[in-house]
Amino acid sequence: MANYDITVIAGDGIGTEVTRESNRVLDAAASVYGFELRRNELPFGSEHYLQTKEIFPDDAFEAAKDTDAIYLGAIGDPRLPVGLIEYGIIAKCRFELDLYINKRPIKLYDERLCPLKDKTCEDVDMVIIRENTEDAYTGMHGFAHKGQPLEVATQTMVYTREGTERAIRYAFELARERNKNKHVTLIDKANAVRAQDLWTRVFAEVAQEYPDIETGHAYIDAACMWMVKNPEWFDVAVTPNLCGDIITDLGAMVQGGMGIAASGNIHPGKTSLFEPIHGSAPKHAGKNIASPVAAIMAGAMMLEYLGEQEAATGIEGAVQQLLRSGEIKGLGTGVHATSEVGDMVVNQLQGASASL
Ligand code: IPM
Ligand code: MG
Repeated sequence: MANYDITVIAGDGIGTEVTRESNRVLDAAASVYGFELRRNELPFGSEHYLQTKEIFPDDAFEAAKDTDAIYLGAIGDPRLPVGLIEYGIIAKCRFELDLYINKRPIKLYDERLCPLKDKTCEDVDMVIIRENTEDAYTGMHGFAHKGQPLEVATQTMVYTREGTERAIRYAFELARERNKNKHVTLIDKANAVRAQDLWTRVFAEVAQEYPDIETGHAYIDAACMWMVKNPEWFDVAVTPNLCGDIITDLGAMVQGGMGIAASGNIHPGKTSLFEPIHGSAPKHAGKNIASPVAAIMAGAMMLEYLGEQEAATGIEGAVQQLLRSGEIKGLGTGVHATSEVGDMVVNQLQGASASL
């Protein structure tokens, strides 16, 4: 029987509650589809930091690297300096594990979840490939004359040919594999950020190697407009890190909100990290009212990455069925108890297997 070692960082706020439900669903999937999951649970997050001043110590990080995948619930806490825990945990994993792809599927499972008028599930079905290790995120910034009237603040946007090319290539491969519209859109801001001309050129070069794939281009501002007006135009889109951060939150709303959107931080073939894209929502924490669906979908993405395609599809199918039947009435906070949604998905998975 296949078995996998997973590092789990449930994190802050609602992270612990949604991770608990995702764990239950993953365990149910393991018994239905016949594999084993072993968890290496780590206590890191803001609360742990406040108590111990520890963020993600080296020995724990090394041990996490030796597991097959990392699952992250959510992190962030208003009591801590902006970015401290985000850079110490998420960015550390992204950079030090070289998780150069941020894969964010945007798929509408039921029309009622879409805030756009007259859009169907067929219209909203795309994957955004966000480059995940470069751009403004490399952390190269500084201040001169701090606090003075002539203060200067700078942050460098970094793009390497290799980093750009591997993200673009991943997008073309995915478009081929999805075999949907066989279309890749490049989204950037090359008209203002001229350094992104590197993206323009590399995209054109890589496209030559994929004559079966059609290409398109949109500047990020226009892409936001098209995402709302004509989401059906997108199949696979590839974009630099910062543009990708912005458009994927918009994409999440189009598919039904932060309650459903999941992502994979991936280095193909290596330990990769999966997370719901929502935050820790401190004001909802500890009340058992946050939707765990995004966390459950992140678990499904993790299984897909590990090669358990059937189990991943099984979880996705169970969630889709519950949304379409109206048993899951919505993805907002307080619509259901967190644990109730976990129960429903577990039962659906087990029921589906009983009828196999
Ligand atoms: C995301 C988040 C992070 C990002 C934050 C928490 C640093 O918004 O994963 O999209 O900007 O990448
Ligand atoms: Mg973001």
